[in-house]
Amino acid sequence: MSIARAEPQKSAEAERAFLREHPEFADTVVLDELRRTDFKRLDRTGHVYLDYTGGGLYADSQLVEHMTLLRENVYGNPHSINPTSAASTELLERARSRVLGFFRASPDEYEAIFTPNATGALRLVGEAYPFQTGDRFLLTFDNHNSVNGIREFARARGAETTYVPSVAPELRVDESLLPRYLTDTIGDHHNLFAYPAQSNFSGVQHPLEWIDQAHAHGWNVMIDAAAYVPTNRLDLGRWHPDFVAASFYKMFGWPTGVGCLLARREALAKLERPWFSGGTIVAAFVQREYYQSAPGAAHFEDGTVDYLNLPAIEMGLDLLDRVGLETIHARVAALGGWLLDALGALTHSDGSPASTVYGPRSWQRRGATIAFNFLHPDGSIVDERYVDRIASQHNVSLRTGCFCNPGAGELAFTISRETLVGGEFGDGMVLDDYVRAIGLPSGGAVRASLGLATNFPDLDRFASFAAEFVDLHNVPADLPPRIAC
Ligand SMILES: Cc1ncc(COP(=O)(O)O)c(C=O)c1O
Repeated sequence: MSIARAEPQKSAEAERAFLREHPEFADTVVLDELRRTDFKRLDRTGHVYLDYTGGGLYADSQLVEHMTLLRENVYGNPHSINPTSAASTELLERARSRVLGFFRASPDEYEAIFTPNATGALRLVGEAYPFQTGDRFLLTFDNHNSVNGIREFARARGAETTYVPSVAPELRVDESLLPRYLTDTIGDHHNLFAYPAQSNFSGVQHPLEWIDQAHAHGWNVMIDAAAYVPTNRLDLGRWHPDFVAASFYKMFGWPTGVGCLLARREALAKLERPWFSGGTIVAAFVQREYYQSAPGAAHFEDGTVDYLNLPAIEMGLDLLDRVGLETIHARVAALGGWLLDALGALTHSDGSPASTVYGPRSWQRRGATIAFNFLHPDGSIVDERYVDRIASQHNVSLRTGCFCNPGAGELAFTISRETLVGGEFGDGMVLDDYVRAIGLPSGGAVRASLGLATNFPDLDRFASFAAEFVDLHNVPADLPPRIAC
């Protein structure tokens, strides 16, 4: 299980060894078949796609089914009662109940609200949560910026924001400390606790058990499920967070531009939208400045929903159900475990480590998102821009940077608060200036993330890409400027 240059014989040997180590992988052959048929464009174009946390991939059949639906029917704007409008409304409502069903959410308990993406869902909650002075917004260090940004809504309304730190090297929360944060509430105030079910940086899966613990202390709980749900079952019959945000393109690639907020009706009733718009009201007047909100999900769906793309949600969820989310989960666990071990075993000829992984190094309570850096023989970090360059030469798609998760990055790279406070990101500075100013060892990590179409040959190709960093002492000076994350 070591990383070596891909030669056909070695590749076959490596695959046999992998299969011996992971006999359960044989139960996921349905995905090999899918790769050969529905994802054949990957092999035709020679791409190794390892950025599923950035965006999932769609199956050809999803497109065919969707285009057939659009070509054979006539759909109009759903905000009406004419026949084409009614046809759109029917599909929209079908998609809504399919989403609830997929997440095993009772329609008596949850609403499914369509949004442009996970960010749109998080923003809906952030801007409408009735924060006031004395209220609390609690969140983990490990969060996407679309959750971090909610602190600005909280601050503008006088609520206090508190971060729960993770601890390196595992980048998990010290759970013995969590009660201290969860008990820090006052009387009748509103309290919102937000965390990701899976980190988009380290792959850490934060416990869903926290939901009940937080509820017991009077918190509303918002789960950012964007990185979790593509390869894990989120069962809202078992867990009852108040709000869940997700993007469908991360789950099944197509369509982009649609996400959802799953909200417990009781928590939704607390939200106070700061405005109204077309689609969100039953009536509004001009001479009398009064409006009546539309009931349920409609009150949160601004303007015209993406009605031609929404039917494709049902098709994507059908694909996941046909294949089985549990099968996808088992597959990425086996492949991800191999990748993690292989990165751990990557060494220079002097025996020094050629990579370092951020977050859990074993396959316990984690998902298939792996953040790491390659190391030079002297232990310094290989500039991630050079990694990007070599990855492009190998036609490997991965991510570099901080992945919009600055908290996890600060902990992974041991950047203290003092360092950040001392180094303002001044006007006119570019990212490279800032990286230099605060003395960062690189512009960020490298992230490989796996998904439903990943197969062993992808990892074998990754292995030959990774072998390029063995015994690498220097990188060329002509690297491009960094771009902001
Ligand atoms: C954990 C997590 N939350 C939120 C987001 C934001 O998703 P979107 O850009 O689709 O709104 C992402 C995107 O990568 C993510 O990984």
